[in-house]
Formats: sequence, structure tokens, C-alpha cells
Amino acid sequence: MDLKGKKVLITGGSAGIGKSIIQELVQRGVQDFAVMGRRQEALDALKAAFPDAEFLTLPGNVANPQDLDKAVAQVTEQWGELDILINNAGVVSAGLLTDLSDEDIINQISINITGLILLTKKALPLLKKSKEAAIMNISSGYGYIAMPFYSVYAATKAAVGQFSDAMRRELHQHAIHVMTVYPSATDTDMMKTAVVSSLDTPEEVAKASVDGLLKGEINVILGGKEREEQIKVNFLEPRKIDAFAAANYEALRERTRQHRSM
Ligand SMILES: NC(=O)c1ccc[n+]([C@@H]2O[C@H](COP(=O)([O-])OP(=O)(O)OC[C@H]3O[C@@H](n4cnc5c(N)ncnc54)[C@H](OP(=O)(O)O)[C@@H]3O)[C@@H](O)[C@H]2O)c1
Repeated sequence: MDLKGKKVLITGGSAGIGKSIIQELVQRGVQDFAVMGRRQEALDALKAAFPDAEFLTLPGNVANPQDLDKAVAQVTEQWGELDILINNAGVVSAGLLTDLSDEDIINQISINITGLILLTKKALPLLKKSKEAAIMNISSGYGYIAMPFYSVYAATKAAVGQFSDAMRRELHQHAIHVMTVYPSATDTDMMKTAVVSSLDTPEEVAKASVDGLLKGEINVILGGKEREEQIKVNFLEPRKIDAFAAANYEALRERTRQHRSM
């Protein structure tokens, strides 16, 4: 993909991995961004952070279909087309399933997967107008390897990967590439309440994501060769991962006890 003149719509671009993706794209010459998020002030701050870029700020919640309609209507009015959709906004609430509130379960699903699917549906007519379009969906390492205390989050992130694959195959007659990024633990606000020994930087995740976009990759998996090996083991010998989770159950429980970013 050639990034020159490309117009990008990104959810959750006001912080963390999304903001770093904007930075990476700005460094590579992209100028036009439409950014959706709940906090208007965080969206407004992007203009000062990236003075070389133009921002269309779209305050709203991806879990709210009316907010998505409004966002797509604004992009249609301002640009009339779209080249790259980055579905990045996401939330997490860890804990035993029986301890999670109904509200946290519903909101993780609504934000991480229902909103992503609905925005993709609503943005597709614009993407189809592009000569060279892409959809980048941000999943998680837990989308491949599920862990205790993350049952709902892992379910939403596995769904993101399956949705991407189905859409890429459904859109094969169009110039729209669909890819998925699987970050490992990354140093963002989302991880402030988790206890993790090593974290990638959001800049590393952004660079790998944009490199993958330019190369037309299908899956960008953070965590190196070790992670790829674990994914194979999880697929071929899932009981080995069960044994790891059982052996580390109490430690995992302790590290994730407070983990919530909603
Ligand atoms: N950090 C990690 O370790 C990690 C690992 C694997 C995968 N991921 C995934 O990477 C993506 C980005 O995570 P991050 O760590 O960068 O998170 P973050 O630092 O918490 O940033 C999340 C961004 O999404 C926006 N957002 C959250 N909920 C939203 C909603 N309902 N509607 C619209 N915007 C919303 C936030 O803005 P507002 O709060 O203003 O809405 C913010 O801009 C997520 O999908 C996450 O699941 C993260």
C-alpha cells in the first residue's frame, strides 16, 4: 500500500496504541485523520500533538450505533471517501466470570466487537470508493491464547480475528485488504491496573502494525517467535496451555485482580 494522500478513520486514536499508530502514519506522510473517542478533550489534544496533520474529531462511543452513524455521516460529508479504517478502541475488565458485573460483560462485548462490526458495516460503502483500501482490526494476544480471568475479553478478541478473516474473504473482489493486529501486553493506560513483568511500547506496536499494513500482511503478531510457538502449541496441544494456566493460576489471579479499563 502507498500511504500518499490516504484518509484514515481510527477509533480510540486519542491514547495508547491508537495514538501511536497516528504518530507512525504522520511520520510516513499521512495527513488526514478522522478520530473517534468518548473524551472530546483527548480528541482536541491531537491537533496540538500533531500540527502537521488535519483532524476530524468524532466524539462518541463505538458501542452506540447512533454515534457510529453520526461519525460515518461526518466522514461522508467532509471527505466523501475513506481509504483506511482502523478499529482500535477497546476495553478490558478482568476477573472470574462469576465476579464480573453484567454491565462489564455487556460493555466489553459492545465496545470490543459489536461496535467494531457495526462501524465496519457502516464504513464499507466509503471504503469501496477507494482505489486501495484497508481495514486494520486490533485484537490481542488473548485472541489467540485465552487465559483465565479474561474469558469475556478473550472471547471478544478471538471474534475480532475471525471477523477480519471472514471479511477479507468476503471482500476479495474489492480493493480492500483486511488485517488483524495481535498486540502483547503494551504500556498504555489500559495496563495501568494490571501487574505485568514486561511490556512492549505502544510505538513498537504501531510500527509493527504500519509495517504490516504496507506489506499487505494478514496477521501482525507481537511477542516474537516465542509467541508464534505458543500459538501453535495452543492449537495443536491445548492441554499444555491448560497445564501452564493451572500451574500459574494463583499468580495470574493476583496479577489481574485489579485489572479494569472501561
Ligand atoms: N495495552 C495492551 O496491553 C493491549 C494488549 C493487546 C491488545 N490491546 C488492544 O489495543 C487496543 C488499544 O488499547 P490501548 O492499550 O491503547 O488502550 P487505551 O490506552 O486505554 O486507549 C483506548 C482508546 O480507545 C478509546 N475508547 C475506549 N473505549 C471507547 C469507546 N467505547 N468508544 C470510543 N472510543 C473508545 C479511548 O478513548 P476514550 O476513553 O476517550 O473513549 C482511547 O483513545 C484495544 O483494542 C486493546 O484491547 C491492548
